[in-house]
Amino acid sequence: MEFDSGQWWRDAVVYQVYPRSFADVSGDGEGDLAGVVSRLEHLDRLGVDAIWLSPFYPSPMADGGYDVADYRGVDPRYGTPADFDRLVAEAGARGIKVIVDIVPNHCSVAHPWFQEALAAPPGSPERERFIFRDEPNNWHSVFGGPAWTRLADGQWYLHLFDSAQPDWNWRHPDVAALFEDVLRFWLDRGVAGFRIDVAAMLFKQEGLPDVAAGTQAAPLAPGAAAVPYEHQPELLELYRSWREILGSYPGERVMVAEIWFAGPAQARPYLKGDGLDQLFNFRLMPLPWSAAEFRAVIDDSCLLAAETGGSVPWVLGNHDVPRMVTRFGIDQELVRAPTDEVLLGRVEVDIALGTRRARAAALLLLALPGAAYVYQGDELGLPEHLTIQDERRQDPMFERTARTFIGRDGCRVPLPWSGEAPPYGFGAGATWLPQPEGWGALTAARQDAEPDSTLALYRAALAERRRNPALGDGELAWLELGPEVLAFRREPGFTLVANFGDEPVALPAHGRVLLASGPLDGDLLPGSTAVWLA
Ligand code: GLC
Repeated sequence: MEFDSGQWWRDAVVYQVYPRSFADVSGDGEGDLAGVVSRLEHLDRLGVDAIWLSPFYPSPMADGGYDVADYRGVDPRYGTPADFDRLVAEAGARGIKVIVDIVPNHCSVAHPWFQEALAAPPGSPERERFIFRDEPNNWHSVFGGPAWTRLADGQWYLHLFDSAQPDWNWRHPDVAALFEDVLRFWLDRGVAGFRIDVAAMLFKQEGLPDVAAGTQAAPLAPGAAAVPYEHQPELLELYRSWREILGSYPGERVMVAEIWFAGPAQARPYLKGDGLDQLFNFRLMPLPWSAAEFRAVIDDSCLLAAETGGSVPWVLGNHDVPRMVTRFGIDQELVRAPTDEVLLGRVEVDIALGTRRARAAALLLLALPGAAYVYQGDELGLPEHLTIQDERRQDPMFERTARTFIGRDGCRVPLPWSGEAPPYGFGAGATWLPQPEGWGALTAARQDAEPDSTLALYRAALAERRRNPALGDGELAWLELGPEVLAFRREPGFTLVANFGDEPVALPAHGRVLLASGPLDGDLLPGSTAVWLA
């Protein structure tokens, strides 16, 4: 694998592969690494710089593989280590780097060290690698319910997520040593970097104090209040030491952290440049379709990046949140105060409108300064699957919240590649999560043949991004075209205009239209449409 020298990740477009749902070559209904290899041409033609692979490590799959039993292996359901090497090599041959997911906050109950801890008595050294106590505190699991599970011998262990995901004790030297080794293991195998899962929670405040009333972690949302299991100062030292490890390898390798920061103040300490390279910028995801609210977050984020010199890549979707076509296709008041009514399919979704907005949002995302992450299937304009039967649901959040939170399965549905009916070319077998009827028009094969498809739009945008020196890292200057319009210039000679309203607006003076997310009406930009101008 070749690595260019500059900080390539600063203006990269990284595509998230959720391997279980990408493509299935083995025919068992679940995606695999050979499946990713088999679809590299799709990624190549899309024009992404890198892929981030969600976990493919040996796992009982209590949380879709974010419960890791062996950090250095490949789960047989995904293939073999040789398949992984082939993926890195063949992606590399196409100029696509591979970032892997590292899950350092917790492991699986099946991890040998946790099994040893269970077999050992209270107070034993085996238990010290985890967080065992005689009495629990009041912490809640991010997935709902208490964060503690009691063993037959009376002791409790901490799990900030599912009970099948025991938290590591990051104050134990074995844990730090294990992860240094894991980083080196994958760096030696040629990965371009790491996406760090739950990166703000590894260290818990000494003494494990109770959290104040009303500040328990909400599922996958930033907490503005300080809680004793987030943002502990020891993290900065840890990530500095990891940066040194990455820096000892040739080429620029990246660490991108999953940190749901509430605002710049929480993010700033991590972005000093000697530790984490990137923090996902999740702050556009919960927003309704509102020019003012998008602009406020964009301003904040650009300022944060400028004052720290850090990189906070833009994100509109991932495997944890409802797909944007659906988010933008419902009553936007419901986006602000999400309820399960949406995910239960009880709310009207205007797919056509959601799709127009999602296409416009994609052009906005890809025109903003800095890097962007694209979640698999967003390039096909997939909506959330809202009619998965309860007995088919796999997300542990569903049961842990006593089925009051439907969970994240609807955005994890296996991708439709071709054909008119499930499994839409995903593989030979019945898929692990059901695919809906009616996705024939959304398959990659169908969209490949349609010049106005969402896939064609993403391809054109990524191609333009590669050749246009105004795009990628840099700055923007706002143009004022009315309260429902976002418009900015980027030098040399690029303008984005996104119309968040319903009424058409006049385009500013320009040379030519580079790309539009939907049909233009002469020099008018219709509602829910964005355009790139030269
Ligand atoms: C992260 C992952 C999510 C997982 C959780 C626990 O938030 O993105 O999918 O469930 O961590 O590992």
